[in-house]
Amino acid sequence: MTTVRLNSADPVSFDTDALIVGFRSGPEAPLPVTGAQALDAAFGGKLAASLTAAGFAGKPGEIAKVPTFGAISAPLLVAVGLGDKSDAETLRRAAGAAARSLAGTARAAIALPAESAADAEAVALGALLGAYGFSRYRTGGDAKDPVAELDVLSPLGGEEGARITERVTALAESVSLVRDLVNTPPSDLWPAKFAEIAEQAAAETGLSIEVLDEKQLKDGGYGGLIGVGQGSANPPRLVRLSYTHPEAAKTLAFVGKGITFDSGGLSLKPSASMDWMKSDMGGAAAVFGALLGIARLGVPVNAVGYLCLAENLPSGTAQRPSDVIHSYSGKTVEVLDTDAEGRLVLMDGIARAAEDSPDLIVDVATLTGAQIVALGWRTAGVMSNDDAVRELVVEAATAAGEGAWGMPLPEELRKGLDSPIADLANLHPERWGGMLTAAIFLKEFVPDGVRWAHIDMAGPAFNKGEPYGYIPKGGTGAITRTLIGLAERHASI
Ligand code: BES
Ligand code: MN
Ligand code: ZN
Repeated sequence: MTTVRLNSADPVSFDTDALIVGFRSGPEAPLPVTGAQALDAAFGGKLAASLTAAGFAGKPGEIAKVPTFGAISAPLLVAVGLGDKSDAETLRRAAGAAARSLAGTARAAIALPAESAADAEAVALGALLGAYGFSRYRTGGDAKDPVAELDVLSPLGGEEGARITERVTALAESVSLVRDLVNTPPSDLWPAKFAEIAEQAAAETGLSIEVLDEKQLKDGGYGGLIGVGQGSANPPRLVRLSYTHPEAAKTLAFVGKGITFDSGGLSLKPSASMDWMKSDMGGAAAVFGALLGIARLGVPVNAVGYLCLAENLPSGTAQRPSDVIHSYSGKTVEVLDTDAEGRLVLMDGIARAAEDSPDLIVDVATLTGAQIVALGWRTAGVMSNDDAVRELVVEAATAAGEGAWGMPLPEELRKGLDSPIADLANLHPERWGGMLTAAIFLKEFVPDGVRWAHIDMAGPAFNKGEPYGYIPKGGTGAITRTLIGLAERHASI
């Protein structure tokens, strides 16, 4: 992975392969941000005018690469636009877009506002997240490696500088791991393999881990995980990761949907909806990444993470529409649609998580296409049995720059989940409000008095389009930093 450090060097004389400089959109010409005036002088005061001539206006996400012809030490200047904003997310996005544009370059330095700890952190984190690449499966020589070394030009140094670089490195490593897992094809990531990866990471990070295999799941009464996983030659797993802190006052439980491939099962998906369903384990990956991040940052909370891992395939052993399964909670569920499988693995994970007596349960899932219909690709839906909890989750997401919006749990939708023969059906007869009916189904497995939130990130988990800001194509690592931020908001000190 790319390494980052804070460096108080002078942008004009600093020896590097490329210098990234931030610009605001001005009334006529783009204006270099704080710290970039000296640069303008090095270019004879003509930097802004030359960039304007090249069509660069300093709009958010805009990038112009200019050879420096010896005016400064770096042979290449990368101008990146900030528009008229200066908030943390604007800095993260600008740094990310610029760092990504430098794939194939060994060293780059960044001159963006980084005088305060918050700004320095935003710039460094955005750059690390934007520099991400996934080339494990390329054999050709044209795959460009992410920029290897990043210097964030900032007056902050010493202990504070070290704290910032450590923090952003931990956050970026968590997010990169989540993206790698989502990008990994299902031929190389099945439930037991995911559990093995978690075991290894837990050993390295000092997390406790427990893995239930298919026999233990069957004996333990995890009918949802068994039902969904029984059509695949790769049996299901339930992973429990746990992190404890001696000063913790609160315990958080995270539950992630980990369908390593979702074909729909016998209720088979059309091919066009199936080819990206390797991303259907994004919730479990985010929970996994968040636990590692919380441990590395030493957040003073207790946190448990459940990874509900199964592969949803059709076969002679697959569950059938109209099967009734016995969930871990004891409630029975009629499976009307085998493609509504996420809620079946989560109902077991949520009921199991409640046994840890957490102060809050948050489940994360690529649960419904209806989330994308309602909120689009970049905004996750947040639902909760407690208004304040829902607001807190949305606030944590917003602070991390992750799109999220509160959604309701209308009571009248519950009766549509009645089954003629079981306690519940896994499918609502109406498509309308599909994100909400899925959440209402999950709520049935949250014991009374337990605070719970559900994050549906079907859209945000995977970027089918072009990269933007610090978000690459493919796995995005969505909601990982939101969960870490949520843990920090529950910290005791
Ligand atoms: N994994 C899908 C949801 C999904 C869709 C995630 C698009 C990412 C992008 C989920 O298991 C699913 O198939 N949901 C069904 C539910 C329906 C059968 C009630 C859906 O949304 O169509
Ligand atoms: Mn499905
Ligand atoms: Zn699914």
